[in-house]
Amino acid sequence: MPETHLASDNYATIHPAVLQAIIDANRSHVPSYGDDAYTSALNATVSEMLEMKAQVFPVLTGTGANVVSVTAASPRWGAIVTSGHGHMIGDEGGASVRLSGLPLLPVASADGKLTVDALEAIDWHDGFVHTPQATTLSIANTTELGTVYTQEEIRALAEWAHSRGMMVHLDGARIFNALAALDCDLKAVTVDAGVDIFSIGATKNGALAAEAVVVANPHILGTEYIQKYLMQLPSKARFVSAQISALLADDLGIGLGRHANEMAALLVDRLTELSNSSRIDPLELTQKRESNQVFLRLPAHLADAFRATTRFYDWDALANEVRWVTSWDTSMSDVDGFVDAFEKASHQV
Ligand SMILES: Cc1ncc(COP(=O)(O)O)c(C=O)c1O
Repeated sequence: MPETHLASDNYATIHPAVLQAIIDANRSHVPSYGDDAYTSALNATVSEMLEMKAQVFPVLTGTGANVVSVTAASPRWGAIVTSGHGHMIGDEGGASVRLSGLPLLPVASADGKLTVDALEAIDWHDGFVHTPQATTLSIANTTELGTVYTQEEIRALAEWAHSRGMMVHLDGARIFNALAALDCDLKAVTVDAGVDIFSIGATKNGALAAEAVVVANPHILGTEYIQKYLMQLPSKARFVSAQISALLADDLGIGLGRHANEMAALLVDRLTELSNSSRIDPLELTQKRESNQVFLRLPAHLADAFRATTRFYDWDALANEVRWVTSWDTSMSDVDGFVDAFEKASHQV
């Protein structure tokens, strides 16, 4: 097995600057639970980037960030509208529903993105006491299918949601990949687009268990209490905050996200060359590649043969769909080696 895989960006290593930030923060005793200079500095940095007084809460996992965010953004009687491919639906072991107590209202979407047209085509039964009330719109950027919402698309969704009195949550587990793909800053696709609460995901982009929930809407109250009772208040928060600050400094995180995206683009190019060369059966991408995730159809016997040499996940086993993901530390030679190994496996079946 090679040392690198395209299974997940969670397989990747920690970026040296992030590791250094942990080392730099590893001196003297400081107050715990976020009452420290590193977390204050992160708050100041994010507030400056957003040009507003934001509240920033360092948390440990992307699932935790989502649970805290939707709980904070929703009334007890609310429900969360999200893509049918949403992470909260299929990938959190039900955490967002179990822990927030909020039902999820999935909306079908072939590319993981919601549109105002799709939302308007649904009768939400507003005010009907028997139906879960749609109070919170949750989107992810990048989406779970690697596609990317533009600022205009988010703004249109936010306008729709706000006109109905709903809050907008953005799951930013891969926000750096989205910012790189859009070539824009954090403010453009969050507060400028009407997002009320969002996460800055660092773990998949060079950090070690570090995400931040950012509350941009001052009407969202009590997030600090919610963070605690949902077990996402790290006692040694300084080490989480320091990691995120390291990625925000000098746009390091966007640079790493850009590299991961470029490696995915290279992967698609190499696969397309191979597919066009007739040396293998034609390949079918199932999603447009817009960030660091590549989805494609692979016959099960070929996927099994290739798995003897590398690791990757089925996305939809019944549809023979697999997912390959590049990371901040994926090199060009990793991509070449991966494609060569894929060609060899194709010739074996
Ligand atoms: C879009 C999205 N949101 C949230 C998460 C959750 O992250 P974690 O595994 O750290 O809980 C992931 C991780 O795969 C994700 O892809």
